[in-house]
This record gives sequence, structure tokens and C-alpha cells, in this order.
Amino acid sequence: MTTQPSTLKGLVLSGGRGRRLRPITYTGAKQLVPVANRPILFYVLENLSEAGIKDVGIIISPETGKEIKHAVGDGRDWGLKVDYILQEEPLGLAHAVKIARPYLGMNPFIMYLGDNLIGSGIAKFRRDFEQSKADASILLKEVDAPTNFGIAEVDKQGRVIRLVEKPKAPVSNLALVGIYFFSAKIHEAVTKIRPSLRGELEITDAIQWLLDHDNKVVSHRLEEWWLDTGKKDDLLTANTAVLDGWIRRKIKGKVDATSQVTGRVDLGKGSQIVSSKVRGPVVIGENVHIEGSFIGPFTSIGNGCRIRSAVVEHSVVLENAVIEHIDRLEDSLIGKGSFIVQGNGNHHAYRLTVGDDSVVEL
Ligand code: DAU
Repeated sequence: MTTQPSTLKGLVLSGGRGRRLRPITYTGAKQLVPVANRPILFYVLENLSEAGIKDVGIIISPETGKEIKHAVGDGRDWGLKVDYILQEEPLGLAHAVKIARPYLGMNPFIMYLGDNLIGSGIAKFRRDFEQSKADASILLKEVDAPTNFGIAEVDKQGRVIRLVEKPKAPVSNLALVGIYFFSAKIHEAVTKIRPSLRGELEITDAIQWLLDHDNKVVSHRLEEWWLDTGKKDDLLTANTAVLDGWIRRKIKGKVDATSQVTGRVDLGKGSQIVSSKVRGPVVIGENVHIEGSFIGPFTSIGNGCRIRSAVVEHSVVLENAVIEHIDRLEDSLIGKGSFIVQGNGNHHAYRLTVGDDSVVEL
């Protein structure tokens, strides 16, 4: 079957270097960092699929592309046909559009940043874009730190007047969410712009070019939460929001008679809770062993972790990490395969960000 130019394709950006979540992203793609034990990218693909998108091109980098391909495969888990597009260097979001041109052809498309998580579906925005016959449709959301984002100036009727990428003196607090709808007009725009001060071809500048050349650009406010999950605190907030909204009680593992598991707790198969208390919302992966411990609300524990004699709350613990004899660990992000242990006589509460495969003796 040939794809008609009217078919909306998906373009997911999962390249880049992900500097801001180091050390976690030294060893992994930031789009694969899990929120409630599922990679952020999986929520993105789910949202595209639910909006009726069938074909998705994923931009990958030489450093982390293999990992992304391994996790997503051909996309059939989401009912998608996924193709991969290699971007040799992270030269910007508009550069990613440039190299995706052969894949996208003349189709309209939705560009979705692989590290963006929103608290809603996108089907309604798709419908609005298709009805509007616009060349670009953007989503806006108020933020506290506008200097970190692309920022939109809108008039009283909500029309977009001007867009600026990471302005030093922001004229508004309305940030561009990393989900954009484009007609094929954007391909001309990305060839007309020049690299920004950070050396990237900015999609924000390409949309500004559309505005400057009398093309229709529409905007919508995102009412639900949005997290640009590049940093540790964002990731913990995203984890809290997803656990709060989406986790249901599901006990597949074993809970011994001396343990108490209360509230919305998702316990994976092969996992064991021994002489411990778990208070939801909490998600615990498969083959996890928890003994003599308290696991408090808003905690995600990845597959294969071991937690003994510890208190862990409001934290994300990635797979195969070991935590032993810790009085209290909170607001923490613990990398894959790390080993966290407290020496004799220390009694403290800790807030940690620990990279993959680390050994930390406190
Ligand atoms: O999250 C929303 C913000 O995303 C917008 O408000 C900004 O206007 C927009 O420029 C973008 O800013 P960031 O600085 O947060 O973008 P970042 O470099 O983190 O890249 C976003 C995603 O795109 C990330 O998953 C990595 C991927 N990427 C990035 C670049 C620069 C690529 O695939 N290729 C690239 O060349």
C-alpha cells in the first residue's frame, strides 16, 4: 500500500546527547530513562498510536541509537511501523527535520520530542490541526523558568506573534511544548534559517520563519501537566504524576505474612516482599527482592533490584540496583546496577543522584 500525502506521519526525536541528566545519561539514552518503570519514549509511542498515527520515523544518534532500536524494535508493540533515521550529530531540532525529509516526503507530520511527557493524549490536537489547515500547530504551557524553553508571545485573541528560543529576557511565560504539527511547508522553512548562538538549527526559528512569511500558525494551550524530563527533579515529578494518575493495584509477586502492602501497588512477577511495608502508589518491577524495608509513596523500583534494611521514598531506582542498610533515601535517582550501602553507625537521610554501575558507601 502506498502512503498518501495526506497521511499524518510521526517524527520522534530520540537523538541528542542528553547532557542535563548526566551521570544517568552518560550510559544511556535520556528517552529511555523510566518513569513508573516504563521508558519515557514508550509513552510517546503510545500517544502517537492512540491518535491514529501508523508510520513513525525515529531520529537516533550514533551514541545511543542501538539502545533505542533494541527497546522499540519495529514498533509492533504499539501497532506502529517504525523506521530509524540516523542523525550523525545533534545539530538541532530543525536539522532533524531536514534529514527526515526523504522519509516524510510531502506528508504532514507530528514532531514529538522523545523526552517530553504530557498528562493527556494528543488525538484532540491532531483533529484541530487537520481542521485548521494550518502549516504549523504548536502547544503552549505556562512555565516557571521561561529562559529554558522556546517562548511564545501571543496577542489578546491568542494568536502567535513571535517565538524566541531560550530568551534572555522572556516576554511571556508560555513555553513551546515538544509536540508540533507541521505541513510540508516546514521543509522550506528549515532551509532558510541559520544556526542559533548554541550552534543549532532551532525549530522555533523555523516556525518564526513561517510566521514571517504569512503562513498559518495556530496554537493551543495544554491544560494538563507537562514535563520536559531532562533533569533529575523533573524526572521525579514526572514519576510522581504518573504514579499518582495511572497506577492500579496489581500484585503478581509474593508478599509474606509479616509484610503489609497497602494502596495502589503494582508488584511484578517473581518479586518478593519479606518482613516489609510498602505504601502506594508504588511500582515494583519483576524479580525484585525487598526485605526488612519500608518503601514509601511515589517510588519506582526497576526489575532485579535488591533492597534490604532500608527506607526508600519518593525515588526512582533503576534496574538491578542494590540498596542496603540505608536509614532513609528520599528524592533520589539511583542508576542501573548501582550498589548503595551505609557504613556502621551512620544515621542519615540521603538525597542522591547516582549514575549507572556505581558503588556508594555512606
Ligand atoms: O521540551 C520543549 C523544548 O524542547 C522547547 O521548549 C524548545 O523550544 C526546544 O528547542 C527544545 O529545547 P531543549 O533544549 O529542551 O531540547 P533538547 O536539546 O533537550 O532536545 C529535545 C529532544 O530532541 C531530545 O529528546 C533530544 C532530541 N534531539 C535534540 C537535538 C538537539 C535530537 O534528536 N537531535 C538534535 O539535534
